[in-house]
Amino acid sequence: MPYHWGPEPTLTPLIVPHPAPNVLDRRIAVAPMMERTDRHERVLLRLISRHTLLYTEMVTSGALLDGASRRALAHSFEERPLALQIGGSEPHAMAACARLAGEHGFDEVNMNVGCPSDRVQSARVGACLMAEPERVARCVRAMRGATSLPVTVKMRIGVDERDSYRDLAAFVEEVAVGGCETFIVHARKAWLHGVSPAENRTAPPLRYDTVARLKQDFPELAIVLNGGITTLQAARMHLRTFDGVMLGREAYRNPYLLAHADRLIFEDPHPVPTRVEVAERYASYVAQQLAHGARLTHMTRHVLGLFQGLPGARAWRRHLSEHAHRSGADVTVLWEAIRKVSGAAVVPAVWPPVLPSVPGSETGVTDA
Ligand SMILES: Cc1cc2nc3c(=O)[nH]c(=O)nc-3n(C[C@H](O)[C@H](O)[C@H](O)COP(=O)(O)O)c2cc1C
Repeated sequence: MPYHWGPEPTLTPLIVPHPAPNVLDRRIAVAPMMERTDRHERVLLRLISRHTLLYTEMVTSGALLDGASRRALAHSFEERPLALQIGGSEPHAMAACARLAGEHGFDEVNMNVGCPSDRVQSARVGACLMAEPERVARCVRAMRGATSLPVTVKMRIGVDERDSYRDLAAFVEEVAVGGCETFIVHARKAWLHGVSPAENRTAPPLRYDTVARLKQDFPELAIVLNGGITTLQAARMHLRTFDGVMLGREAYRNPYLLAHADRLIFEDPHPVPTRVEVAERYASYVAQQLAHGARLTHMTRHVLGLFQGLPGARAWRRHLSEHAHRSGADVTVLWEAIRKVSGAAVVPAVWPPVLPSVPGSETGVTDA
């Protein structure tokens, strides 16, 4: 059994874990996002969908290997299927990180070739490596040699003036020879100078056609589409062309959009939890984590969007934003917020949790 950092066991009574996958199902994934897809967020997403592939935030190879970011390896079995994303460009270091990913029970190790921020560029990490396919291929080869996990690359369709289809195809071809069989493609180019990371996620136009051409020209490779996908319907449509679809910002802003992914995409007919059930289970997780020293606001911030689009959403957000940061605040804040949206007398936070699974226990909120 791999060693996991941090408190455990965590969620066994809360989540029915996905069986350890032999072949990863990448049809729907939630993108790696710094300061978003931490352990708490991943638990929340897993309470909503058992099958969606999850990614950690990016950790640089240097920070992981010198010990500063060892916590990035922390996860619980129930978060799986889970990929560790590494930023780096030194084959030896990337190999050492890939080995750690395997030893710590991840299901995939992903190399970041898409982040355009100045900070990571100066460390030769991220999208600037689109201009160095040979180096990326060497990293992938070294990583493959160090672990039996799948090694994947998350990339852009180009950078700066290096944005022709020819350059893109040459990159993919060379990195595939290095041993990468799965490419996650953010369907925008990135500007490496004078543009903030946030602008680099909106300003360059989305070019799904370019990514589709890649899939056509490299049918033997798995190509996962990323960028601007905001509904499961759109995801399903893209799955006619691509091997997988990765959602980022919308999955964070409105996590419940994944609630029907298990049924609609992964053909698992298990009952879909209501938003209130998700919130209650998350509250039980929060109570447990608080007892281990986690901070309440670090956990409540991820659930602000849970009731997105529903009548009680504003009261929910306001209650959490106003009360969670107060000194002495505990999980009661979350239970009070649940009460505001559900109108129901909620179950007190006890461990192990008492889950209100009786049909009709949820009132006031419906999930269309
Ligand atoms: C706050 C934030 C942090 C991000 N951090 C990472 C990261 O650590 N690694 C990475 O490859 N991409 C990162 N991204 C980019 C996303 O993974 C994704 O490629 C991008 O948001 C486009 O997908 P979307 O339109 O579905 O959001 C980040 C995006 C956001 C909004």
